[in-house]
Amino acid sequence: MNIADSEVVAAILAKEGFTPVSTVSEAGLVLMNTCAVRENAEKRIWNKLENLKGIKRKQGDIKIGILGCMAQHVGNKFKDSGAVDLVAGPDSYRHLPELLEKISKHEFVSDLELSRTETYENILPQRVESSQINGFVSITRGCNNFCSYCIVPYTRGRERSRNPEDILNEVRDLYNTGHYEITLLGQNVNSYRWNDEQQAMDFPDLLRKVAETFASMRIRFTTSHPKDISDKLIETMATVPNICNHIHLPVQSGSNAVLKAMNRKYTREWYLDRAAKIRELIPDCGLSTDIFSGFPGETEADHQQSLELMKMVGYDSAFMFKYSERPGTMAAAKLKDDVPEDVKTRRLNELIALQNELSTASNNRDIGKEFEILIEGRSKRSDKEMFGRTCQNKMVIVPDRGFNPGDKLKVEISNCTSATLFGKEISS
Ligand code: 5AD
Ligand code: SF4
Repeated sequence: MNIADSEVVAAILAKEGFTPVSTVSEAGLVLMNTCAVRENAEKRIWNKLENLKGIKRKQGDIKIGILGCMAQHVGNKFKDSGAVDLVAGPDSYRHLPELLEKISKHEFVSDLELSRTETYENILPQRVESSQINGFVSITRGCNNFCSYCIVPYTRGRERSRNPEDILNEVRDLYNTGHYEITLLGQNVNSYRWNDEQQAMDFPDLLRKVAETFASMRIRFTTSHPKDISDKLIETMATVPNICNHIHLPVQSGSNAVLKAMNRKYTREWYLDRAAKIRELIPDCGLSTDIFSGFPGETEADHQQSLELMKMVGYDSAFMFKYSERPGTMAAAKLKDDVPEDVKTRRLNELIALQNELSTASNNRDIGKEFEILIEGRSKRSDKEMFGRTCQNKMVIVPDRGFNPGDKLKVEISNCTSATLFGKEISS
């Protein structure tokens, strides 16, 4: 999400004559696009800011701006840091030229207005951070779900869907600039909806349209809220060949009591039913999740339910966290952060250990199977090897036979670790 937003910012600034540089020492302006989802993310930014403060002291003429969710969350308190000149929230990027004009006159400025309509229409993102292989395209902004632990609805505002024409134009731009894979992005892509005089579209319609218009590209999407994942979406994935068979489906907890307190609006049974439907219609579908330990009131039995659900689904991979209380959320206001830190850590370690086993088992099942992979680059382990990804989103290392990024190969898997598959090209 933040890469896509940084590319919008780059496009707005390019129009003003700014050009990106690769090191801070060459920069006249440093903008940090930030995340506020857990306290750790914010801590990292405060540390970086300390660093930049030192550089600013030496370099003098450098300006520093904070963008994104932490800008929205921390706001004008950044002024006290003594290092920040500009603070702009996720809906304020069109105003950056005026804001930068003001700080050139030594004023601290902030713009934290959230919008109900801003989708950065007619701004073609400038690709600065994404790889040449995979491009990201935002299809919605904001979130209306108000999961009780989550700060995103407060920092990114209400949910808005983007015009399909804009989305298709961005995909076309990525296609024309040599990208091979597109990831459609939103906090909850399943609630995408567009209505105008010409057309009415939901997410499966949009996904089909993008995939059929750009049939030579691989199409991915993230993130799906389990409450909204429809049979129509799963059927669309099953029938359109270039939509990758991978769903990231954050479960957050396996306990109904915890899911209710999280305001997730689905039960463990509903989630398991959706996972079963995916497996029924797309037997080889990759499934990954987000899950975290130590939500207020989480008992040992609740935690065991999370472990049990992970085993039942058999995830290929997972992002796992500890609960981090975020000021301003419902959970922070109403629920005591009562699971002791050492218990949160122990439970997280149990989630991680189990997922390692599940990932290893999932990868072992792939040994002897054939996959198509899209080569992304040279392996970090050895310059005689390249790496690519299967549609299911698994990383595969292959011996290099003169491949280039963007090549599609048929490979047979011969070995694995919990994180990586190893294979070799087979003739098709
Ligand atoms: N504490 C811990 N994890 C969180 N996430 C969101 N908010 C919090 C929080 N307060 C996790 C969820 C979400 C992912 C992006 O971050 O698992 O899916
Ligand atoms: Fe946060 Fe829930 Fe929205 Fe995801 S769906 S961004 S967890 S409020």
